[in-house]
Amino acid sequence: MIGGLFNLARPLIHRMDAETAHRLTVTALATAPALKPGADDPVLATEAFGLSFSNPVGLAAGFDKNAEAVDGALGLGFGFVEVGGVTPLPQPGNPRPRVFRLLEDEAVINRYGLNSEGMEAVAKRLGSRLRRNGLVGVNLGANKESADRAADYATLARRLAPLADFLTINVSSPNTPGLRDLQAESALDDLVARTLAARDEVATVGQRTPILIKIAPDLTIPELDGMIAVARKRGIDGLIVSNTTIARPDSLRSASKAETGGLSGKPLFTASTRILAEAFLRVEGQFPLIGVGGVDSVETAFAKIRAGATLVQFYSAMVFKGPGLAKEIKTGLATRARRAGLTRLTALIGRDAAAIARGEGL
Ligand code: FNR
Repeated sequence: MIGGLFNLARPLIHRMDAETAHRLTVTALATAPALKPGADDPVLATEAFGLSFSNPVGLAAGFDKNAEAVDGALGLGFGFVEVGGVTPLPQPGNPRPRVFRLLEDEAVINRYGLNSEGMEAVAKRLGSRLRRNGLVGVNLGANKESADRAADYATLARRLAPLADFLTINVSSPNTPGLRDLQAESALDDLVARTLAARDEVATVGQRTPILIKIAPDLTIPELDGMIAVARKRGIDGLIVSNTTIARPDSLRSASKAETGGLSGKPLFTASTRILAEAFLRVEGQFPLIGVGGVDSVETAFAKIRAGATLVQFYSAMVFKGPGLAKEIKTGLATRARRAGLTRLTALIGRDAAAIARGEGL
């Protein structure tokens, strides 16, 4: 039904400037009465970082930056939503235009630059949600002008951990100059230590909010090794692989392909799935992975799981396929699992990781 409405409205939405269309979609989801998705097939149930997910399909960060439409998004059937990136202080982000649809490529380039209403506005909205059902993560980012960016993550963790089901340290957004340097091993180690300590300060018995790290798809293998070493040593709860890419694959055809920013959507799928598989092989089951980048179908979601993802997320495909996609993907995944005679889809996590890391099996 909602997918049908989107198909009708799509030509109109795609004629609007991309940021206006984004804003309109968030407002629509925030104001329309939230839908009540039916119960998920138990074959889709999964556990990760101490949380129980009724299905593994999530909405990626960046869509609902200020936690305005959490229940509307959950109503679309997502097993979880990640809001943010949120910065400690409000900041405007980069000048417009800063989001571009690459229609021919089913891709997006954005250079929003972590525009955020700030953590107090987000805390207020999360705190006032009436129905606390559904899992909600918060994506954390540093202020552009901050003198101590590691301190920003600690500040955010202290304020938002009690209001979130999980927190994500986003050190992989390409649109804040210098932010990705925090992925380097020694910088990351300091940042993670301080963020975990801040989280622990506000933890109560039985409520210690899991903390994940989100990485760029453009890391080299030695950089990935360093990052995973920190995550394992510090007891990080999970990795999200991956953020947008600064690469521009030769296949791109759209006029906007030369815009500066992070590329997401279909052309990100292969690179982000390969690095996901590389991460899976290195983590050795110590913590779960969330696979994100170019998921736009049952097939691509399933490939993320085969590469090592316990959970998957998408964002860009919402722009091209509409709000019915979460439901379509989870129903398709359930059918596949049942056809394979499985009682749990989780049995397939990482099945083809070695092949995918070698560049085969996608
Ligand atoms: C993003 N993404 C993102 N990620 C993040 O960690 N913090 C953020 O604030 C944002 N903001 C953002 C804005 C826009 C407009 C887009 C398109 C993306 C990245 C997003 O969560 C995801 O990792 C990538 O987009 C790859 O997934 P898709 O879009 O290919 O499904």
